[in-house]
Amino acid sequence: MTGTMPRAEKILSRINELASVSEAAKGITRRYGTAAAVEAGEKVRGWMRAAGLRVRVDAIGNIRGIWKSENAGADRLVIASHIDTVIDAGRWDGPLGVVMGLDLLENIISSGRKLPFDVELIAFCDEEGVRFHTTYLGSKVVAGSFERDMLDRKDGEGVSLREVIGMIGGNVEALEGDAIPPDQWLGYFEIHIEQGPVLYEKKAPVALVKGIAGQVRAEVVFKGMAGHAGTVPMDMRKDALCGAAAFILAVEELAARAGSGLVATVGKLQIANAASNVIPGEVVCSVDIRSADEVVLSQGHLQLKELCEAIGAQRALEVIWTVVQSSSPVVCDGRMNELLGKSIRRAGYEVLELVSGAGHDAVPISAVSPVCMLFVRCYKGISHHPQEHVETEDLAAAIVVADEFIHQLSEIWKYPL
Ligand code: GLV
Ligand code: MN
Ligand code: MN
Repeated sequence: MTGTMPRAEKILSRINELASVSEAAKGITRRYGTAAAVEAGEKVRGWMRAAGLRVRVDAIGNIRGIWKSENAGADRLVIASHIDTVIDAGRWDGPLGVVMGLDLLENIISSGRKLPFDVELIAFCDEEGVRFHTTYLGSKVVAGSFERDMLDRKDGEGVSLREVIGMIGGNVEALEGDAIPPDQWLGYFEIHIEQGPVLYEKKAPVALVKGIAGQVRAEVVFKGMAGHAGTVPMDMRKDALCGAAAFILAVEELAARAGSGLVATVGKLQIANAASNVIPGEVVCSVDIRSADEVVLSQGHLQLKELCEAIGAQRALEVIWTVVQSSSPVVCDGRMNELLGKSIRRAGYEVLELVSGAGHDAVPISAVSPVCMLFVRCYKGISHHPQEHVETEDLAAAIVVADEFIHQLSEIWKYPL
């Protein structure tokens, strides 16, 4: 492990360098297509080029570096994660997988080793979906599942995705051409912080990911009647915010009572024309529903929608429920996980298997390629928060595992996964 500490320290210094690039003066915020996101991409691009990769920025803004093997027509292993962030984010969610992938390749290149397959390192430009309320825009392009109707979706300032792609020098006409054809994939490997407390509690540095929870995200509009806060009697009001408030508590209660691993969150709330002396006439909120079990997920979605409609009916509010995104649960590839488990064991750690409640770029990629993920412990499981933290010793442990995993893959590459 001591040999890997300098590599771990370099990873940390790159993570810190990326963390200094933000839309806001305070904290870390890099939403898709902003100057900060482009600047972070430029940094990664420079590092990839310096490492000897053949680098390009694709039509949506993903940074992509290829390391070619000497085998003509070799399949491609993709190592990737994202460099966009939520608002006031931590520094590790996303960038870890990119800078660790870069370190892996730098180590292979500098040791003069050859790989029997091509490796493409990708820094995805949008995984969090904060700006356009839909996730995986970058990885969907690479998977060939980008939905063109997304181009007309607008951000909070009314700027469409189509316009943003143009502004950052992308090309909406070339999005489909940037997919990796399904027959060229060897596999997909993503290193990511756990974003939950299990590894921290178990005092283990790494785990493999068995599967990733499916999710449904909906936008809910409550329409009532705006009015004067001083004149409309309480029993004559149609207060949209009170309807939303009842719904928010009902979401928490239903998920907590389900006892099936269902989780549900209202994370956004907008009050139209908000003022202290106006009865709220229209409120829009988000609902994020997740489960690793497809049936639990679809039942949970249906129950919450019905509950919302019942609250609306009770309070004489119009309710409009729109699903803005959904993805089914993903099972990570058994063969890749066998090799990853072997690599964890060889590195001297117990093989822990976790299901990810967080979404990852591995989700859309799983439609076209075997996928696997390595989780790295983060402090108390804190994520989507400035206190997100990874110990340098855990980076070193993950390096040993990842090196071994690439070695294992190169041993078996002839037998398709
Ligand atoms: C991404 O971080 C998600 O799980 O929402
Ligand atoms: Mn992430
Ligand atoms: Mn995230």
